[in-house]
Order: sequence, then structure tokens, then C-alpha cells
Amino acid sequence: MKRYFLYIYGCQLNLADAERLAQVLEDLGYVRAAKVAEANLVVIVACSVRQKAVDKLFGLAKNLKKLKLKPQTILTGCVAPTDKLKFKNKFDLVIEIKELINLPRYLKNKSKSKRQQNYLSLLPLYHSTFQAYIPVMTGCNNFCAYCIVPYVRGREYSRPAGEVIKEVAKLIKAGYKEITLVGQNVNSYAYQKYDFPKLLKTIDQLPGQYWLRFLTSHPKDLSKELIAVMKAGRHLTPYLHLPLQAGDDQILRKMNRGYTVKQYLALIKQVRQAVPGLAITTDIIVGFPTETKKQFAQTKKVFKQIGYDMAYLSQYSPRPSTAAARLVDDVVPTEKKRRWQELNQLLKQSSLKANRRWLGKETMVLVDQVKADNKLVINFAKTIDLKNVKFTAAKSHLGQFVKVKIVKINDFNLLAEVIR
Ligand code: SAH
Ligand code: SF4
Ligand code: F3S
Repeated sequence: MKRYFLYIYGCQLNLADAERLAQVLEDLGYVRAAKVAEANLVVIVACSVRQKAVDKLFGLAKNLKKLKLKPQTILTGCVAPTDKLKFKNKFDLVIEIKELINLPRYLKNKSKSKRQQNYLSLLPLYHSTFQAYIPVMTGCNNFCAYCIVPYVRGREYSRPAGEVIKEVAKLIKAGYKEITLVGQNVNSYAYQKYDFPKLLKTIDQLPGQYWLRFLTSHPKDLSKELIAVMKAGRHLTPYLHLPLQAGDDQILRKMNRGYTVKQYLALIKQVRQAVPGLAITTDIIVGFPTETKKQFAQTKKVFKQIGYDMAYLSQYSPRPSTAAARLVDDVVPTEKKRRWQELNQLLKQSSLKANRRWLGKETMVLVDQVKADNKLVINFAKTIDLKNVKFTAAKSHLGQFVKVKIVKINDFNLLAEVIR
């Protein structure tokens, strides 16, 4: 029997890509291996957003060579053009994810696919029976100075609206409870007469019991129309991931983000007014080249002012081919770490404060993980605004909406009791 094993790194877009890859492999007769040692084929879906993850691939390549079954190895996903050359002799095949449609040819010497279809139109093998990430667009045209994504994913491509709507409708009919539309700049979606607000509104109107989310929004494309759709949403959840990256105008300009702090704050105000109880999350980079202590203090100020529910904080690292890679990486590692820790401290406070809103409340949560710990069965769940919830309950809750009461709060999660 032919068995495959997948290493999936990075964001939800890679997960969605890996689901398509898995279906292509299963169509070729491969069966998923539980352990890498049992596989004849190992495919790595890589992420290049940080250098550390790229460096680890060398070690992984070495370890794969030591495996008894001598599996065929394929590197795909987000790989920088310069890295592709470096990895050429480390893996049997290095291919772009866009070429997934031709993978059968590589593996079986089949003729090239005649259909000029985008790989995102391929059928996925979903990783879950109740949660789905639906890629609606891929790529990026924004070229933020620090970011490798435009180089590894290419220019923006939006999937046909009809295809996306059909896929979501099918999932809802099958009982899926959480649908997340994903794209590097999901709100720049554009297909014929569909822009993102129109796509979102059409999906939100599909009947069923489900939550609808979307990731990641760019502030420059957060339109009034999108805010109006969020406000009127029936299934849309009060959650917005809106990366700020830095709270200083000069740094934002150097990052090529296309907005000022004032504009960002105005957006937050509008969207908070429109959507009550909205949770707002962000990405921040500390230690971008030339960032002074004063400029970092600006980021802290804005961070505090907004009071984020959650934030993904990174220390800047230069990425090949990007504009910022030509600047001197002049904030020393110890200083980057210090700034990161300071923000992390602020995050703990703001997250705790946001969690406090839930204390004593009764609410529906979606159980997305169940772990049996000795005699106790622990349920891990999410609130409608994506807070982590933990409680003891039955195994049968997995994938279900369950009514709970929030009885205790921590920095990053809520403890609950099931209401019978
Ligand atoms: N499209 C999204 C971001 C995708 S990359 C947006 O516009 O916000 C995910 C996150 O990785 C970024 O938000 C950024 O915070 C971080 N990141 C990207 N490049 C980085 C770099 N060179 N150093 C440190 N963090 C980086
Ligand atoms: Fe990267 Fe900027 Fe594009 Fe986001 S918008 S993927 S940060 S280049
Ligand atoms: Fe990484 Fe590619 Fe996502 S570089 S963050 S997996 S788009």
C-alpha cells in the first residue's frame, strides 16, 4: 500500500492547500500514514514568513533521509524563489503549490492536465467534519516592506464566487458549524461583479445553524460596505482580525502599509459602533529596521488604547527579496525581545479585560477538541468571538454547539460549566 505523510506549516491558507493536496494523493491511491516512518511519500507544505521555519527544513530533510522506507520527498507550499534552489538537492521534488494540478504527472508520469483550472478549484479532503477553512483568494499585491508573501504566493487571485458559494452551501447542508473564509487579504476579494462584502453577504444569507468568520482583513480594504454587512450579519460572528503591525506613522510608512494610525483608529471606532461586543485581534511586528524606543512607545500607546482581545506578536526578521531586507536590521535581538515581552505583558492585561466581559454569562460555544484526562473528559471550545473555553463534559460534544455558563476567567481562556 502507498502511504503519504504531510507536514503542514504556516497559516490557514496552507491548511486549505494541504486539504487539496491530500485529495489529489488519495485519488492516486495513496492512504494517509499515521506516522512519518510508515510513509512512502512525504510532502512538506512550507511557510516562509519567518527565517527560523525555513532553517528547520534543512534538519527535516536530513531526518527524512534517515528513514528506513526511504520515502520520496516533496517540498511545496510557500517557498521563496531563492530558497527553491537551495532545497533542490535536499528533496526529491520542489514544486509550487499552483502546480498541484500536475502532481499526478510527476508521480505517475501521466500526461499534463489539459484543464487549465486553478488549483484552488480542486476538491479538498477536509480536515474536520464541522469546521472548514474556505480559501476565497490567494496571493498579495501589497508588498509590505518586510513581507515575503507576495514573493511566495504571487499576485492576488480570487476564486469564482459561484464556486465558493456552492462549496459553503454544501458544507452547511452537511452540518458544518463553523465556516471561515480565508485569504491573505480576504477583503480585497474581487471576482466579476462580486467584491468581498457582496460575497460575504450572499454566504451569510444561506440558511442553517452555523458561524461565519473571515481572515485576514487589510485595513485599507475595510470598506463601509463591509462594515454594513458585518452589522447586518445573521451568521457572521463579532470578530475582526485587523493587523496594525506598528503604531507609529513613520514606521507604518516605511513598512508600506498604506494607512496612518489615525485612519486605523477611525476604522476601529466605526466597526465597534456597528458591531456590539466585537472582538478585535491584531498582528504586530517589533524591531522593524530603524524603529526607535520612542516609536515603539507609540505602538504600546495605540495597543493599549485599542485594548485588543488577542494579538500575534513577532520580532522582525529580514526576509530575502523584500524591500526591508535592504535596510540595516539595526534593532539588536535583545532589544527586540524586550519590546516583544513588553507588548506581551500589555496583551495579557487587555485579553484578561476582554475575557471579563464573559464572566457569569450563559452562552453557546462550539466544542472543537475533546481530551480524556484520567476519568475526566475535557472539552475545548470557542465562543462566538473566538475565545478559548474549557470545561468538563461528555465526549459526544465534539463538533456541537453546547450551552455553558462562564464561571472563571484567565488571561487567555475561560472556564465554564455545562448548563443542563
Ligand atoms: N496579510 C496579513 C499578514 C500575513 S503574514 C496582513 O496584511 O496583515 C502574517 C504575519 O507575520 C504578519 O501580519 C506579520 O505580523 C508577520 N510577519 C511577516 N513578515 C515578517 C517579518 N519579516 N518579520 C517578522 N514578522 C513578520
Ligand atoms: Fe504580507 Fe502585507 Fe500582503 Fe499582508 S498585506 S500578506 S503583510 S505583503
Ligand atoms: Fe506562511 Fe504562506 Fe501563510 S508564508 S503565513 S503559509 S501565506
